[in-house]
Amino acid sequence: MIAFKNLRDLHAIKKIGTIIRSWFDLDIFYCDSNLNLKSLDNPQNLFLKLFIEKLGGQQTFSQELKRTLEVLGEGEVIFELAGAKGIAINIVMGGENQGKTIAYPFLGDNTTSGEEAEIIKFLMDIGANKNEATEAVKKMKRPPTENQEKLTELVSLVAEEIVDYQSAQDKRDEIVQKLSSELSDKYRYHNIIGKSGEMQKVYSLLDKIKKSESNILIQGDNGTGKELVAKAIHYNSPRGEKLFLEVNCSAFNENILDSELFGHVKGSFTGAIKDKPGLFEMADGGTIFLDEIGDTSPSMQVKLLRVIQEGTFLPVGGNAQKSTDVRVICATNKNLEEMIINKEFREDLYYRLNVINVYLPALRNREGDIPLLMEYFLKKRCDSMGVPLKDFAKKTKEKMMDYAWPGNVRELENEIERLVVLTGDEKMILPDSLSPRILDAGGISVSGGFIPASGSLKKAVAELERVMIGDGLIRCNFNKSRLAKELGISRASLIMKVEKYRLDKRRLKEVA
Ligand SMILES: Nc1ncnc2c1ncn2[C@@H]1O[C@H](COP(=O)(O)OP(=O)(O)O)[C@@H](O)[C@H]1O
Ligand SMILES: [Mg+2]
Repeated sequence: MIAFKNLRDLHAIKKIGTIIRSWFDLDIFYCDSNLNLKSLDNPQNLFLKLFIEKLGGQQTFSQELKRTLEVLGEGEVIFELAGAKGIAINIVMGGENQGKTIAYPFLGDNTTSGEEAEIIKFLMDIGANKNEATEAVKKMKRPPTENQEKLTELVSLVAEEIVDYQSAQDKRDEIVQKLSSELSDKYRYHNIIGKSGEMQKVYSLLDKIKKSESNILIQGDNGTGKELVAKAIHYNSPRGEKLFLEVNCSAFNENILDSELFGHVKGSFTGAIKDKPGLFEMADGGTIFLDEIGDTSPSMQVKLLRVIQEGTFLPVGGNAQKSTDVRVICATNKNLEEMIINKEFREDLYYRLNVINVYLPALRNREGDIPLLMEYFLKKRCDSMGVPLKDFAKKTKEKMMDYAWPGNVRELENEIERLVVLTGDEKMILPDSLSPRILDAGGISVSGGFIPASGSLKKAVAELERVMIGDGLIRCNFNKSRLAKELGISRASLIMKVEKYRLDKRRLKEVA
């Protein structure tokens, strides 16, 4: 599409236009590919001025011109309108006709006085008086044939200029478009760090759901960035300009959560000294983030189902339903599917919340992101403390990589905060500042590992598994088939467990 409006400001076109005007007293204008008149602001030619004015304006002139150009044969450049001649040159870009450049009006050098009289009569018929009609026709140029050819060349030059200009413009638009989409790719989730394949999957899902307003369930271990991602989803969504309110469903007892979410009316309980709106009311039009949704009681689940399904809720102590339009994003580190089987979580609520599911991978499953996150938090920490940027010693990095990060990104962030403080004025962060559990990470305590006799059974079993497999690997000289047989599990499941507990050869060799 050609931006005809911009053409009159182009230097080359202005210059050619001036030549055409001063030599031939013609106006230059354009029509688009549908032959509709474009950009004829202020005609100079007396005949053209009179013609347009008496005909009832540009609109009518445009229609007349269109009719004339429509019947112009292929390859024909000279047309005749109201007895006067004009030149129309196609503007062709990429093999497609984008419109015409037009120069109008002039007379042939063999125009007879009879023909002139007819043109004058035409002008008078549409309402011009005799004097102005005569003057306009007399003033028109009558270029001889060879000059008409020069004129055609000049008009063609204008058409070429337009093509050049538009191509450059299109190219520039394309570059700008490309750059800006590259930039937005890069910065859209600028505060979510991670380049691993696992995180790429998360980004591409976030991209896909950007325009959606569906409810979303974010699952993942503690500290994997669920809240961070919830915010990214909201701020990139159609509701991005509206409120994002968050509530941690496990942080309150049932009654307080109820009033927090749905508000209460004055006097509904001791301490309710005035009406208070709840988050569902305040977030109207925006997004509410229900963190730790797995920790809600059965009665709270019913209320949530209602507000999500029908958009209505009842404030604590109130008797009138209120309505709201809120998008719900929830997060949990619990296995809701298992909770449904155990009748701890309502299946109908689950399906309402889990329209789209985002799963955030544990940090140990995206090792490659550890160095990135380390650099990121180090810089963030040093900046916020106003100390010069520190650096990790090689061994420190290795230890960090070896550790399994049960607390995920949050734990890693805390560790770095701690390291920056402990390193004081030193630039280099040495491994001996690391928390003991991380420092010990490489030296897996296999045989004689401490299996707790109380606390979480799951953890203890995992620890036992880890120790038995680690021991076994060393004993069987890393022959996995043999060990699998000894342990009575399949080779595939042994391999999975070796990965899970990060019992790779290199690290086990260190202990052995
Ligand atoms: N991919 C990530 N990039 C940068 N910071 C992250 C990332 N994931 C988590 N964090 C940071 O780690 C901390 C814990 O994240 P959070 O979203 O609260 O986790 P969750 O809600 O899953 O427990 C926050 O300070 C958060 O900013
Ligand atoms: Mg959280």
